[in-house]
Amino acid sequence: MPYNYRTDFPIFSHRGEELVGAGCFLDEKTLQGLKARPFDRTLYPMGFYELVKKDLDCFLEIPAYASIFRDKSSREYVFSMLKRIQIPRGAVEVIECFKTRDFYTYKHMLVVFAISCHLVSLLSGEEHFTKTLIASATHDIGKYSIPLELLQKQTPLTAQERAHIEHHTLAGYAMIHYYTDSEGTDLSSRVARDHHERSDGSGYPAGITSIDRMVEIVIASDMYDALLSPRPYRAIPFDNRTALEELSSKALTGKISKAAVQALVASNRKKVTHWSECAISSDRRGSPPLSNNYGVTGEPG
Ligand SMILES: [Fe+2]
Ligand SMILES: [Fe+2]
Repeated sequence: MPYNYRTDFPIFSHRGEELVGAGCFLDEKTLQGLKARPFDRTLYPMGFYELVKKDLDCFLEIPAYASIFRDKSSREYVFSMLKRIQIPRGAVEVIECFKTRDFYTYKHMLVVFAISCHLVSLLSGEEHFTKTLIASATHDIGKYSIPLELLQKQTPLTAQERAHIEHHTLAGYAMIHYYTDSEGTDLSSRVARDHHERSDGSGYPAGITSIDRMVEIVIASDMYDALLSPRPYRAIPFDNRTALEELSSKALTGKISKAAVQALVASNRKKVTHWSECAISSDRRGSPPLSNNYGVTGEPG
């Protein structure tokens, strides 16, 4: 049974063109209409200029990522994929714009790409590589359609504001249809749409329970980086151990991929084991940071 993806807010491209109005359905006709609109859909290398490589190199120096990228070879692998992956021109422009508009999202998109590289190399066959990595690099592209003051709001969100932020998934789905030619749309648009879905049906935008294995890899990378980073709703990030415990608990309660979490935990162990032999447990020894406003709803009073 197909889901009806209805847009409660308008969707804009990064150039300010309205792509889809509020109240429309993202059905086949609307998506084909986006593809039919004129746009330069040329592909560009993901490492589109030296600065992206330099920035990602700096990000991977941050202590939180040190254990997962401690091997020179794992970093070299990320940079070789950065050179090889090609993404649509519109997505390149969005990533560039994020660098000045919302630096957290810029860093996050590059780091999720790097973590996904690592997970895909462990968990997936060669045939899925490229598409998953393109999708990881563009997963949050829809945030460009969300007002900046909402993305960066530090106090609790109202229900309406939360719904608007969650709308970045459908915005990304539509934007990728607009930016990409028909061949490259499928996995990238599904990752943009589904990366906040959870296998127990508790996610958004639709609450689906059947999630593609490649989408699951990006979901785990996305959650891991979000926990390890300061966020507007939580000034102090999770430490690495507490972040892995949080992910383990989500895997053991059937929300996210157990294999992806096993691979992340195994990559953090000093004594290297094959990920499939890495046991994860629900034990909690770390402490989540205080003052975490995530999920707290503040209604205008
Ligand atoms: Fe997201
Ligand atoms: Fe994300």
